[in-house]
Amino acid sequence: MIEKDRTYLIMGLLDPNSIAYAIGKSIESAGGKVVYTMLSERMKRIFFDRSKTIDKEERDALDIRFCDVTVEQEVVDLFDTFDDLAGVVHAIAYVNPKTGLGPEFHTEAAEDLTTGFHISAVSLATVARHAVPKMPGGGGIVALTFDSQRAFPSYNWMGVNKAALEAVVRGLARRHGKDNVRVNAVSAGPLMTKAASKIPGFQDLGALWADAAPIHWDPEEDAAAVADAVSFLISGSAAKITGQTLYVDGGMNIVGGNMLPHERP
Ligand SMILES: NC(=O)c1ccc[n+]([C@@H]2O[C@H](COP(=O)([O-])OP(=O)(O)OC[C@H]3O[C@@H](n4cnc5c(N)ncnc54)[C@H](O)[C@@H]3O)[C@@H](O)[C@H]2O)c1
Repeated sequence: MIEKDRTYLIMGLLDPNSIAYAIGKSIESAGGKVVYTMLSERMKRIFFDRSKTIDKEERDALDIRFCDVTVEQEVVDLFDTFDDLAGVVHAIAYVNPKTGLGPEFHTEAAEDLTTGFHISAVSLATVARHAVPKMPGGGGIVALTFDSQRAFPSYNWMGVNKAALEAVVRGLARRHGKDNVRVNAVSAGPLMTKAASKIPGFQDLGALWADAAPIHWDPEEDAAAVADAVSFLISGSAAKITGQTLYVDGGMNIVGGNMLPHERP
């Protein structure tokens, strides 16, 4: 259960299409208090403040802080403002789309890949290092991943980062068991967000899901299902679950080949 009136920090809000926003809604509807982080005030002005999907009143009511997870001091300053967190969500990823994603896997841009690795995988450990001392009774940390067991078109180096992120989840789960902090990942199917729109060929991923996922998957509609799974994993209802990657992808990860005509509705 989400603990009523306790605080859940959700990192990685960009606009109302962000998975972070859907997670915030899910946790709030269960009675939790939600604080979001965005990368910077500039990003808020450009993306969040201009979005038309929520009204000004709702926007102004949100508690939004700022944190670049690659800047240690910003992470320190963020967590200094808390003393009793129930949970933390890491919904953050980046790789230069020109070099790390797209039709060609090979690239010479090793620095871009290092930056992407820092933001998308290493930062979960940075966040956990500063978050756990602020979770005195224990709690939950949940990261967002995408199927890294298989190689998808265009996803290239982000797939590598997600494999690393899932390994970081397991390392942290082992390290923080003694703190009663559980660390898990939710592996989501493709969702139409700003990060997704930067993946050249994102439509192809949607098409793969349309052909093969046993349960119908809609990239425009299914963020809420992902959010509810995060809400479960971060809560005490998942008390004995740690180090896991829970797939919320319509079952796509378990099928071989496409669904045949007689298997469809
Ligand atoms: N959209 C999908 O199809 C999908 C599927 C599976 C997993 N995910 C994962 O879900 C998470 C959230 O992505 P989203 O799809 O909601 O997109 P999004 O663009 O809304 O969110 C990505 C966030 O990462 C933030 N970010 C980038 N660099 C940062 C930095 N240095 N410090 C702090 N924040 C930084 C961005 O500002 C943004 O808020 C990511 O980990 C993504 O890989 C997305």
